[in-house]
Amino acid sequence: MIMESLLKSENIERSYTIGKTTMDVLKGVSLDVKAGETVSIMGESGSGKSTLLHVLGGLDTPKGGSVHFKGESVYEMSGVRRARFRAQNVGFVFQSFHLLPELDILENVALPAMAVRAGGKSKERAAELLTEVGLGERIGHRPQELSGGEQQRAALARALMNEPDIIFCDEPTGNLDSKTGDKVLHYLFQLVASRGHTLVLVTHSKDVASRCSRQRVLKDGLLV
Ligand SMILES: Nc1ncnc2c1ncn2[C@@H]1O[C@H](COP(=O)(O)OP(=O)(O)OP(=O)(O)O)[C@@H](O)[C@H]1O
Ligand SMILES: [Mg+2]
Repeated sequence: MIMESLLKSENIERSYTIGKTTMDVLKGVSLDVKAGETVSIMGESGSGKSTLLHVLGGLDTPKGGSVHFKGESVYEMSGVRRARFRAQNVGFVFQSFHLLPELDILENVALPAMAVRAGGKSKERAAELLTEVGLGERIGHRPQELSGGEQQRAALARALMNEPDIIFCDEPTGNLDSKTGDKVLHYLFQLVASRGHTLVLVTHSKDVASRCSRQRVLKDGLLV
């Protein structure tokens, strides 16, 4: 069976310039992710893992190289088209949860549906997702009333709200103790498996990486 490429990046380059110093963080990273695959990315702190995820997810224009999603070149899309691509096709879970304190967690989870003007069912779906991550009883709570692990599970539900084709997780358990982190990962892998999502996961843990179908390491600006 020939598996189709969902997300294909070729020779991504990204540098940061501060004052007169330019630092080449990504020096030609290529990664081909097939639909349904789970890929882990490890690497030392500062090796460029977050930078890479942002480029892959359409958040940060690379200096060189290309990213294609289902054959379409992400950085040749118009800004509006790319924003729509992100809202419809991509789910992001960050190390810090980025939940809005003014909204309860149901509203936080339902929020992405507003970006794609989904119909009136969005709160029902948000409630279903929150139940699936074990937060069914906490729907009316504000993020600040939840523990770190609970907030991250809410952020996971939010990332899945628009049924994205691909989910990027940037050290989703980096701010959590190991037991709480395990619980978040349990829900993550369960949801990914049951819904057939494609996952790209940055992690510092070999154990976590080994739960993915493919493991890569970012080193000296290249994936090895
Ligand atoms: N906006 C920025 N401006 C300048 N330098 C940056 C910027 N963002 C990241 N960097 C630098 O680029 C390098 C890669 O950063 P990045 O955040 O991608 O690393 P990382 O692998 O995710 O690290 P960590 O494991 O600590 O999260 C680092 O040296 C960082 O200091
Ligand atoms: Mg990072």
